[in-house]
Amino acid sequence: MADRPTVALGIDIGGSGIKGAPVNLVTGEFLEDRYKLATPAKSTPEAVAALVGQIAERFLDTLPSDAPIGVTIPGIVRHGVVQSAANIDKSWMGCPGEKLFSDVLGRRVHLVNDADAAGVGELRYGSAKGRDGLVILTTLGTGIGSAILYDGVLVPNAELGHIELNGHDAESRAAASAKEREGLSYEEWATQRLQPYYAFLEFLFSPDLFVVGGGVSRKPDKFLPYLKLQTPIIPATLKNAAGIIGAASLAAD
Ligand code: BGC
Repeated sequence: MADRPTVALGIDIGGSGIKGAPVNLVTGEFLEDRYKLATPAKSTPEAVAALVGQIAERFLDTLPSDAPIGVTIPGIVRHGVVQSAANIDKSWMGCPGEKLFSDVLGRRVHLVNDADAAGVGELRYGSAKGRDGLVILTTLGTGIGSAILYDGVLVPNAELGHIELNGHDAESRAAASAKEREGLSYEEWATQRLQPYYAFLEFLFSPDLFVVGGGVSRKPDKFLPYLKLQTPIIPATLKNAAGIIGAASLAAD
């Protein structure tokens, strides 16, 4: 069996920025400062692919010619094809993203859901490192992303942000964007929105651990103490690097 690569490029496509960095796959650390470009207002596949190309160009010269490349997208990815577009331009629906990026970069690209990448990042290098059993990572941002990991293996494309909560799409009530939009305090958001959301996930899955990522994971003390769950719930530690790191790591699998 060929040796596992020790370096890969990760690129994370988000609603406001597209960020990339080369990753040391042994430590999970960036080898260079990450490079970020603003996501275009009309974030069509072609517009995004051009920026992904620019980010890759910045680093590829310094990496081995066979360094794997992983890219995230905030949607379902089945066999390289994007199959949902809740918070991205609708033209992504049905787009063969993996082929598109590979064509633009002239190199093979591995495309993965953003929360799946973050979950793998946290499991291999972050707050859930080495945790066995069932780990569920959720990212609380514009939407709610999720990753299901069992004994270290990713079950891809879980869309737990879209379970029904009190008759609503859960992310429309419990994402960090709902807190902002509705002017909820951390306590209101935690007790009225996050508590029923995580209690329902706990009932459905009986996980061993919840990990909470997304921008709000930087301020865990403001909302996690309000949650009354049987399952331990901890903040992600890789912050907004988790997607880049997880995508790079998955691309090397
Ligand atoms: C999408 C997921 C994505 C999450 C976080 C949701 O709306 O359906 O695929 O992981 O947002 O970006």
